[in-house]
Amino acid sequence: MTDKKFKWGLIGPGRIAHQFAQGLAVIKNAALYAVASTNPERGQAFANQYGGAKVYNSYESMVNDPEVDAVYIATPHPFHYENIKLCLEAGKPVLCEKPLTVNAAETRELIELARAKKVFLLEALWTRFLPVYAPVRTWLDQGLIGEIKLMVGTFGFAAPVDESDRWQNPELAGGTLLDMGIYPIAVSQWVMGRQPSSFASMAKLSKTGVDEMTAVLLQYDNGAISQFHSSFLSNNVNDFYIYGAEGYIRLHANFWAATKASMVTNNQEITITRPLRGGGFEYQTEEAMRCIRAGLLESPGMPHAETLANMELMDAIRADIGVKYPFEK
Ligand SMILES: NC(=O)c1ccc[n+]([C@@H]2O[C@H](COP(=O)([O-])OP(=O)(O)OC[C@H]3O[C@@H](n4cnc5c(N)ncnc54)[C@H](OP(=O)(O)O)[C@@H]3O)[C@@H](O)[C@H]2O)c1
Repeated sequence: MTDKKFKWGLIGPGRIAHQFAQGLAVIKNAALYAVASTNPERGQAFANQYGGAKVYNSYESMVNDPEVDAVYIATPHPFHYENIKLCLEAGKPVLCEKPLTVNAAETRELIELARAKKVFLLEALWTRFLPVYAPVRTWLDQGLIGEIKLMVGTFGFAAPVDESDRWQNPELAGGTLLDMGIYPIAVSQWVMGRQPSSFASMAKLSKTGVDEMTAVLLQYDNGAISQFHSSFLSNNVNDFYIYGAEGYIRLHANFWAATKASMVTNNQEITITRPLRGGGFEYQTEEAMRCIRAGLLESPGMPHAETLANMELMDAIRADIGVKYPFEK
């Protein structure tokens, strides 16, 4: 089975889809087999760039191609629900860009559908699968920095204000929380192995009504706090610190794409580097292929329960900062 070429289909060949295709290029026994786009020229240009994949002008016809082993979805958030549903109904395993959906109700429904259909479903939270995160996990599990007390992370860029971009568009579930804040939420959850018991949040909303800067405090049952900011308004340091009673760990900027981590204990610092083989998406893609080949319905690296819990938390934060998308009203 592992000798057979794994054939990926791709829905939505826009910006981030390129990083997926570049990652695929460094994976042995995997290929971009088909691209589906509502825009024939865009689909063809993408396919030509990555070695002549088959082009479909409808998502439906691609997911019904029996040669497609799994589908990667790279459309903006509000379309994930219908795109994932289409794939699951057709029995196609799914790797879908983060956030899996725009809210927890949609995520819950799709997880139930994936389980009922016995089809694999993974939120493409690529950070979780990067090589440098494995030794950091070992440091944490060995308790080298003691009990976790505090985490601090930022994800911010001074983005040009362009109200036509999906980031600013409430109809496309724009704003920083779902696009960027999801990373410190997912890393905090990964560090603590559980959800926070409470949170506090504040945001600055844009003229279009999306959050262009959000600050959140998550508190855990042992009193530990994770503090993060997501922003379109400033170029932040963008690393992530994990402070324990006996030392600290730093995931170097940009932490969501980290190749370097340091640990300081007893005034001694060690730094490790784990370069990427491709653009970084290859690790989550390999994990999806491993799980699909093993007959799993979810990845232990980003289980359904954690995707759902993060969506519930983001729903609650959005309610607190007053961001409700027009299609949710
Ligand atoms: N993992 C990461 O590091 C990362 C980074 C950036 C973004 N993302 C995620 O990737 C997803 C896509 O983001 P992106 O910036 O790459 O998207 P994008 O370039 O704006 O759009 C990607 C594709 O989605 C479809 N699409 C775009 N706008 C649409 C609209 N208004 N109506 C219907 N379809 C539309 C188009 O598909 P067709 O070609 O079929 O028309 C387009 O090619 C988001 O959910 C985002 O959170 C992840």
